[in-house]
Amino acid sequence: MKTPLYNALMEYSKHKKPFHMPGHKLGTFGDMKHLDLTALDVTEANGLDNLYEAEGIIKEAMQEMSRFYGAQSTTFLTNGSTAGILGSLMTICKPGDKVLIARNCHHSVWHALILIGAVPIYIQPEYNEDFGLMGVIAKETISQALDLYPEVKGAIIVSPTYEGIVSEVKGIAEVLHEQDKVLIVDEAHGAHFVVDEAFPESSVLQGADLVIQSMHKTLPTLTQSALLHRGTNKVNESELIKNLRLVQTSSPSYVMMSLMDYMRGYIESHRNEIKESYIVPLEKIREELSKMRKLKLLELPSVMYDQSKIVIFTNGSGIDGYTLGQYLEERYDIVAEAMLPHLIILMTTLADNEQTLTHLEKALRAIDDELFLNQSIASDDRYSKLIGPILSQVDNVKKGELSPREVYYKEARLTLIDRCLDRICAQQIMLYPPGVPIICLGERISKVHIDLIKQYRDRLKGLEIVDSQIHCKVL
Ligand SMILES: Cc1ncc(COP(=O)(O)O)c(C=O)c1O
Repeated sequence: MKTPLYNALMEYSKHKKPFHMPGHKLGTFGDMKHLDLTALDVTEANGLDNLYEAEGIIKEAMQEMSRFYGAQSTTFLTNGSTAGILGSLMTICKPGDKVLIARNCHHSVWHALILIGAVPIYIQPEYNEDFGLMGVIAKETISQALDLYPEVKGAIIVSPTYEGIVSEVKGIAEVLHEQDKVLIVDEAHGAHFVVDEAFPESSVLQGADLVIQSMHKTLPTLTQSALLHRGTNKVNESELIKNLRLVQTSSPSYVMMSLMDYMRGYIESHRNEIKESYIVPLEKIREELSKMRKLKLLELPSVMYDQSKIVIFTNGSGIDGYTLGQYLEERYDIVAEAMLPHLIILMTTLADNEQTLTHLEKALRAIDDELFLNQSIASDDRYSKLIGPILSQVDNVKKGELSPREVYYKEARLTLIDRCLDRICAQQIMLYPPGVPIICLGERISKVHIDLIKQYRDRLKGLEIVDSQIHCKVL
């Protein structure tokens, strides 16, 4: 049989040690490998309920889930957090409405704006100079934005970030609620926060109105399994379901829904075992990794940082993040979640244990020892320090001139950067690394933008170089 995809995946799962999504890590959590997934793959047959008109077993399972997370209600998503983000924004905004959008949001947020025709007011997350990472949204930025644009319907922010940094959601929710606005938190990377006190508090418990989580990213469930929680009663549940129906499949997977239900039950009845098998060794290896001499572990207090993420900076070590990822895979079969020029991200989940975590720790420490002995290699700090001054030139709060929908349906032209002043940008432009958004879709290009683009041309993602001249897509 010629089955290239199937064969490659079977081979991959035999040998590799994934420190990436999905959270079940090739089915190695609990009794997952022994579950009969085909028995769970059914449809809306008699007695099996219906996700969009739930009143039986699906409703009961979703109620158990909302109890677990402390939400007012929870809806299963079978098309990832993407569907939750689309459905949430479609529920709070109509065409022409304004909404606060953190610049570091996932691209599904812009897709939602294209579908709705809503107008973004961009808000800038703080930049953490010590780590060279985008960090939290400050509640002061939200206040400033509400003063300037009191008509906004609400805000969407990302917490935790991909690297694991969480915002002070409680304070942000209070500021928005004082003006009767809705807070949506993209907590795609935080579905595991309720599992143990070692993790930050979920936004659901901090007053966010809508919280979206990809269960598949950080918990042992199948890819695309996700949750949409109503943390408060501010947003109408049936409106949400109506909009989810527009963006999700009409055949929601019972395998995904029932596994989310099963894993929630399994975790609840095995909390102590999980503490012993995963949390304790995780804390131990974090302590060991903090002693590395060339590679640097990202360390922050657990109220503001997800300890499950192992983020390793390579600045000054003599190798970049890609090379570190390559060493880990070639020598130890360890596959990272993400590799960037200055860091790598390794995801640990409940499926990890003393053995997998120690394997990772030993691998990283051996590479670190080797780098330490090889002192002749030049250090490389070029990524971390420049960003603060750059960001101070980008507005903290800025309205998009056109809605992403208008930009999407207009014809954009690749234009020489010197001719882009005051034109509407038809693309996202990022400073990379570390991945700092500089201009977003529908923003008007200023002199400051052009100067930044020229100065940092080699580090900007999305621009095109034609005949060695920088070009940008504009209207
Ligand atoms: C911050 C963030 N939000 C939303 C999403 C979308 O999640 P999903 O893949 O579950 O649709 C992602 C996916 O990478 C993400 O990183």
